[in-house]
Amino acid sequence: MTQTDAAATANGPQQKDTVTLAEAGSNAEPIELPVLSGTIGPDVIDIRTLYGGTGMFTYDPGYTSTASCESRITFIDGDKGELLYRGYPIEQLAESSDFLEVCYLLLYGELPNAEQSAKFSNDVTYHTMVHEQVNLFFRGFRRDAHPMAVMVGVVGALSAFYHDSSDIEDPYQRMVASYRLIAKMPTIAAMAFKFSIGQPFIYPRNDLNYAENFLHMMFAVPCEPYRVNPILAKAMDLILILHADHEQNASTSTVRLAGSSGANPFACTAAGIASLWGPAHGGANEAVLKMLEEIDSHDRIPEFIDRAKDKDDPFRLMGFGHRVYKNYDPRAKIMRETCHEVLDELGVHDEPLLKIALELEKIALQDEYFVERNLYPNVDFYSGIILRAMGIPRRLFTAVFAVARTVGWIAQWSEMIEDPSQKIGRPRQIYTGPARRDFVSIDQRS
Ligand code: ACO
Repeated sequence: MTQTDAAATANGPQQKDTVTLAEAGSNAEPIELPVLSGTIGPDVIDIRTLYGGTGMFTYDPGYTSTASCESRITFIDGDKGELLYRGYPIEQLAESSDFLEVCYLLLYGELPNAEQSAKFSNDVTYHTMVHEQVNLFFRGFRRDAHPMAVMVGVVGALSAFYHDSSDIEDPYQRMVASYRLIAKMPTIAAMAFKFSIGQPFIYPRNDLNYAENFLHMMFAVPCEPYRVNPILAKAMDLILILHADHEQNASTSTVRLAGSSGANPFACTAAGIASLWGPAHGGANEAVLKMLEEIDSHDRIPEFIDRAKDKDDPFRLMGFGHRVYKNYDPRAKIMRETCHEVLDELGVHDEPLLKIALELEKIALQDEYFVERNLYPNVDFYSGIILRAMGIPRRLFTAVFAVARTVGWIAQWSEMIEDPSQKIGRPRQIYTGPARRDFVSIDQRS
């Protein structure tokens, strides 16, 4: 290993070292690979010349040791349990910021000044309505359709409505598409909810803030006045901040991969929604509540803990474990506190499901199986309980997550488009199927 350049700056990855791979593959000569450093976080081995130099690929299913891109947006230290948006700790943003300010930060890299903040808020709010024709799409779905199924379809269909912001080569169109997506996602999620319960769609109200307007569109009805509860609006704003971005998770990587071919941002976001839906990712918030409802009483907790530990049982304790956090998820800590505040304010602090959740958390945090594997509660463990207390049905939980994560997806997508080293994402494989063989006619097959 030779020391070359140790300086790591925020201007892009810097070469720090090289590693030497001796006698690899078809090449008898040792091959030197650069070691790159970011601003913070582990160094990476740059293997871009590996195949050319050795004829070998790397193998990393699930990308457990692979950095797929350079990014300046979000940083996670999984061992410390730290999450930074553009360098700012999530705890400070949760305490002092609001969702639209966080959106600005994620998109532009800096917190807005007062003038920028007012303009951004105004510009995003301008786009809250969807094309009236979009309403007709909803009528094509069954009333019992899962809201995420509706979201995938309707958000993908936005590509058919907003041709004037689909040219990804034009920075202005990219910005308009970003604002449209951030603004319209709550409208679409609320419409999916209203459709499922047979109530009329409620148009956005631009005099309300982002979280207030989302609640208004979900809970107002045309026949009587609706006053947004400020405690619920604050809790919703917090949920949105905590879910806004999370580095190269499955849905964000999906958005980047879809976008790497030049697909438009509405189609890429629909791909992100599809990826988020799974229970190992954003669908976990719905799955946590389903699990707590199934557990139903304190006496049954040990049975579920045993099932989670049983290798022959596919059951996992939902809301526990994380690919990156091997410590308490910092978002879960904030959510845990908020959960108590919201339930107290709503006068439902004796919520039985919360009691089961707390007991489950206590047992799991002491159990050798979970301790050995660093399985801590993740953000989804508490968000479902808060959302339920707010009156949001379980099936809509992941759609709320999608509303929040849209800014992260679109910020990462824009970053990728602007990256001069961007290429179409095209992983390779290790092939284990049959080697070449000759076609056998049907009368000769056994
Ligand atoms: N319950 C029981 N055992 C678990 C759990 C769990 N929730 N999570 C992981 N394990 C065990 C695995 O069985 C494995 O044990 P082994 O080493 O004896 O084989 C070990 O812990 C490591 O698990 P992996 O599956 O290798 O970890 P991975 O990083 O691939 O998975 C994941 C992470 C998908 C989040 C996983 O922990 C899980 O399925 N959790 C439940 C679903 C969930 O809450 N998802 C939300 C994630 S956060 C988010 O998307 C916002």
